[in-house]
Amino acid sequence: MAAFRRHLAQTSAAPLGLEITAARGSWLTDRRGRRYLDLIAGMGVANIGHAHPAVRRACAAQLRRYLHVMVYGEFVLEPQVRLATRLATLAGPPFECAYLTNSGAEAIEGALKTARKHTGRRGLVAFELGFHGDTFGALSVGGNRVYREPFRPLIPDVTILPWNEARALARIDRRTAAVVIEPVQAEGGVRIPAPSFLRALRARCSEVGALLVFDEVVTGLGRTGTLFAFQASGVRPDLLVLAKALGGGLPLGAFLGPRRILRTLAHHPPLAHVTTFGGHPLSCAAALAALEVTVARDLPARAARMGVLFRRGLEALRDRHRIVRTVRGVGLLCALELTTPAATRRFAAACLARGLVLNWTLHRDTVIRLAPPLTISRKEIAFALTAMDAALTTIRR
Ligand SMILES: Cc1ncc(COP(=O)(O)O)c(C=O)c1O
Repeated sequence: MAAFRRHLAQTSAAPLGLEITAARGSWLTDRRGRRYLDLIAGMGVANIGHAHPAVRRACAAQLRRYLHVMVYGEFVLEPQVRLATRLATLAGPPFECAYLTNSGAEAIEGALKTARKHTGRRGLVAFELGFHGDTFGALSVGGNRVYREPFRPLIPDVTILPWNEARALARIDRRTAAVVIEPVQAEGGVRIPAPSFLRALRARCSEVGALLVFDEVVTGLGRTGTLFAFQASGVRPDLLVLAKALGGGLPLGAFLGPRRILRTLAHHPPLAHVTTFGGHPLSCAAALAALEVTVARDLPARAARMGVLFRRGLEALRDRHRIVRTVRGVGLLCALELTTPAATRRFAAACLARGLVLNWTLHRDTVIRLAPPLTISRKEIAFALTAMDAALTTIRR
């Protein structure tokens, strides 16, 4: 712990600080042998559970073949090609083509640069309390002034619109290259837009020729009850951004779109956007294995079912404890909103003491996000609800 504090750059005033020695399925084990149920799945990564055997097998096989051999886009690497082909089939038209990155923020950067170059326009539009990562470009379209302010000047020509307000969409115009949106805001406090809002957004983007970019870094790969959230929204974006669960626990991101748009990165100038490690063969092998587990076990449908069960239990907690204000969610992206930030912090600490890992969202410190592995069992959900009930009772005193 002392070395952690001294030699790793700290990002949190109060890090959770668990010393992890093992992680399997929905469970983490610390150095003292204590087990914790992971209700945030490593922040949206472990959709198929931690260290899934299929991912470990795929990694072991790829380790025997080759690791990094060339920068992205020069050699034909089977794990990359198979993954991009599988994603194109599963996402369907127009997502025939993938650009592979190391992370979500890099995929957002790539999507924004692609949109600017393809359209020849400068304007970018995003939404209040949206979160797209912490690189300069991704931060520039972040919807919380508090996080943008210390890093100014950010990239220009960004407009932040109010969330879920159809009237504001008129500000998207013929100068807009791209509009980036999470189909459900995760760090913004699990905020679910009206289906009519997303339809109006699609219509406005088509009308003025702006590219619609769905950031499905959190909502993708089954989390919200369909493989991709756009499939339930009735709206198809022009570019689809994935990361987090995509790599099955290894670093990987991607943006997908039609070839006619993505080919802009190959000319004027050639090599217009390159990466050394993006689409690492080990990550792609892991991603393929994770995708097959997700599809074979129909984890999106499982997320939908378990989400209903989880929310029913959370609603019972809301009815028993006045400190809980609201419950909402879609699939296994759920939120428990408490009355004050102080109560929320005490609740998270009381849950940790009872063996639950959970936390509040970046932009809403009264909202506890519950996003466990999609493989979570009924018994584990029951354990979580009992522990949360006890935690709520303790903090009321
Ligand atoms: C919706 C969303 N987009 C993008 C990102 C950035 O991803 P990464 O941390 O892999 O850069 C995040 C990270 O939490 C996210 O929640």
